[in-house]
Amino acid sequence: MKLFVMNMRKSIREQYLQLLDREPTLDDLDFYADEIQNNKINLEQLSLILKNSSEYTELQKKEISQNKSIQIDTYNDVRIQGQTVSLGYRESVERYQEILKFCKKFNRPISVLDLGAAEGYFTFRLSEDFSGVFVAVEGDSKRNLLDSCKKNNNQNILLLEKQMNLKHLQNLKEVQHFDIVLALNVVHHFDEPFQDVLELLVSMSSFCFFEHPNSLENTATKNSSRLKSEKLKLEKFLPQLLNKNKSGLGDAVNQKLERNMWLLKNTESKTIDRAWRGTEKYDEEFGPDSHIDIKSNFDEILIDYGSRNEKRNWIQGIDLRTFLENNGVYPTNDQVLDMINSMNTDNARDLGPHNLILNGHELLPIDQDDKFDDVNTKEKLKSFLIQSGLL
Ligand SMILES: C[S@@+](CC[C@H](N)C(=O)[O-])C[C@H]1O[C@@H](n2cnc3c(N)ncnc32)[C@H](O)[C@@H]1O
Repeated sequence: MKLFVMNMRKSIREQYLQLLDREPTLDDLDFYADEIQNNKINLEQLSLILKNSSEYTELQKKEISQNKSIQIDTYNDVRIQGQTVSLGYRESVERYQEILKFCKKFNRPISVLDLGAAEGYFTFRLSEDFSGVFVAVEGDSKRNLLDSCKKNNNQNILLLEKQMNLKHLQNLKEVQHFDIVLALNVVHHFDEPFQDVLELLVSMSSFCFFEHPNSLENTATKNSSRLKSEKLKLEKFLPQLLNKNKSGLGDAVNQKLERNMWLLKNTESKTIDRAWRGTEKYDEEFGPDSHIDIKSNFDEILIDYGSRNEKRNWIQGIDLRTFLENNGVYPTNDQVLDMINSMNTDNARDLGPHNLILNGHELLPIDQDDKFDDVNTKEKLKSFLIQSGLL
């Protein structure tokens, strides 16, 4: 009997925490324990009573308006034509200084994937300061990133307007490599295990800047309960702590909690695993361990075809098929068509879109010495893209 009463009180308390986000008073506990014990109500009915209270209604309203304001608030600073035109609620400048310092180590063009780019502050700053290709991925069109890309008109930026899941990232990893991935405050937005998402992001890069909420953050932060239960293992990425920055989110206490920004290193092999998404993986086609190796350092980046005994420079960018399949919206379709029209196709034998590397201002055909393909002229390429629903 005693155990029943204790469990009952525990259940009443849990309901208070869950529905009203607070501890019950002793009076509350006594009152409802008594009601339940005397069979006047049961636990399900208690839940209904709490949900019908004005306190619960007020809390719901607050949560909805908080979520709304998160959605419309500017997250990072808006950067147009080299000027910061409005500030985000998260600090961006100090974080960028760390990224800038590291990127200066490269004596060559770089490729960067900015996952969950929000207003695109980091992509725009990098594209102003470095040569290379800068790929922003953002699932929320209300961030107006396409509009900012058009206003900035930088020739080295690609925008994928896509809400990525783990499978999309896996598809991307199999065909692409980036010198740097920016995974700033985005991994905790995923439904899949955070560790799996992070491992995939590191595997498609040489270095990864990773910022993740503080596990003490409350429900103002997305997936806050998972932040407490899913502890990340960073050791194998040789983590370097670069920076600590306030969350800026939720109530006064939550806003002050600091988030760590890490530099992580890919200490394992860097590979391309298949020619394009719709074809077999190299190890299925040519046997175990078959893949293309990426050999890169701060001075050069090469691809090593192992079996073919061939090494060549890696061309920075994303192949046109992967760009369009992932809702590449910048450069725009019209700009892509212009690039097709002005592409050099002197030695063209296979103009399949997976053989055309898009770098923001031109399309560069690769692998033109291999097989002769049906799609081998600009006109055939355009019809192919239209037929496959890609353009
Ligand atoms: C908290 S903001 C972080 C912005 C920026 N990385 C920074 O740290 O300043 C997260 C952004 O990632 C976007 N996002 C979240 N999950 C995403 C996903 N799976 N694919 C693409 N964008 C995503 C959200 O729409 C939001 O704009």
